[in-house]
Amino acid sequence: MAGKSRRKRIGILTGGGDCPGLNAVIRGVAKASMRKFDMDVIGFEDGFAGLVERKSVSLTWERVSGILTQGGTILGTTNRANPFNWPVDPENPEKNEDRSDRAVAYFHKLGLDTLVCIGGDGTQTIGHQLSQKGIHVVGVPKTIDNDIMGTDITFGFDSAVTTAAEAIDKIHSTAMSHHRVMVVEVMGRYAGWLALHAGIAGGGDVILIPEIPYEIDAICRLAVDRSKKGKRFSIIVVAEGAHPHGGERVVRRMVKGSPDPVRLGGIGQKVAHDIEEITGIETRVTVLGHLQRGGTPTPFDRVLATRFGVKAAELCYDGVSGVMVALRGTEIMGIPLAEVSGKNRLVAADHPLIETANGVGVCLGV
Ligand code: F6P
Repeated sequence: MAGKSRRKRIGILTGGGDCPGLNAVIRGVAKASMRKFDMDVIGFEDGFAGLVERKSVSLTWERVSGILTQGGTILGTTNRANPFNWPVDPENPEKNEDRSDRAVAYFHKLGLDTLVCIGGDGTQTIGHQLSQKGIHVVGVPKTIDNDIMGTDITFGFDSAVTTAAEAIDKIHSTAMSHHRVMVVEVMGRYAGWLALHAGIAGGGDVILIPEIPYEIDAICRLAVDRSKKGKRFSIIVVAEGAHPHGGERVVRRMVKGSPDPVRLGGIGQKVAHDIEEITGIETRVTVLGHLQRGGTPTPFDRVLATRFGVKAAELCYDGVSGVMVALRGTEIMGIPLAEVSGKNRLVAADHPLIETANGVGVCLGV
């Protein structure tokens, strides 16, 4: 630390939907900042809303102690607060205003050197835009959807896969007892990572992902064949973004003021209805919903979140800006936010997991 005259100050916010591991990252950034780099740490309440509405708290060592295993975020979050498109009247998106100058002014008023933005693709995109306005930004990739460009994995994903796989295990036993088809709808937005991982981990017979539009006849054939062979039940794992070939995604609701207002959900019901109608096999649906976002992070996510947090603190101390921490292989590194901003990482048709699923006879809906 020799040669550094002024003690640095950094700000942290958590944006977008929550997920397990947010507190582990906050703790990692804050503890490393204080202990290793002698920096002060400020937290913003409710994501970018705290920056615009000037709501911040000092993050002391005591405040970030004991939160490693806690789900959610001690800072609060929202997926409706974009400083560049600020909802002045939540009922009327036409009236949205650009409040990014106000956000930048508050950053400077607090004497901050760097803003750490922990969040998904929306948060990283806003972080990138703020860095283009001249403030230092370091991103940390969060989401149960695992759809952020540039990193092999996001924190929160492993915890969501674990929750979903445990649920599928439980559905399995009741499916067997009642000789039913059981459809389990998981989250994941436009990406099939969560369905693919949870489906393989839970021994799903059919896995439907957004990247591979399904044919209902292929699914029905499998259920009937299994029945004929004495396997009188089938487990179907459906990503909320899945859709039939030539058909639309099912939208559950629109959220006014959200950067991406579309909320998916309901495809499980449609798949179940169609299977029962075509095959006559009794079919039930379970929608896992926000269960997948709650609870304590898995040990894998605790370690990943802590590694991301410590690396983010190091990048702040080194004065690096416009980057997001990422896992590449076994290494944590900073990658340009420009490579992440405005993009989604989807399951490629030739991804090895598709081959793995095919290898054990999983039907991917075609
Ligand atoms: O991006 C995380 C996620 O949980 C998606 O999987 C899901 O589509 C969405 O957020 C749900 O958002 P909300 O909490 O607004 O219902």
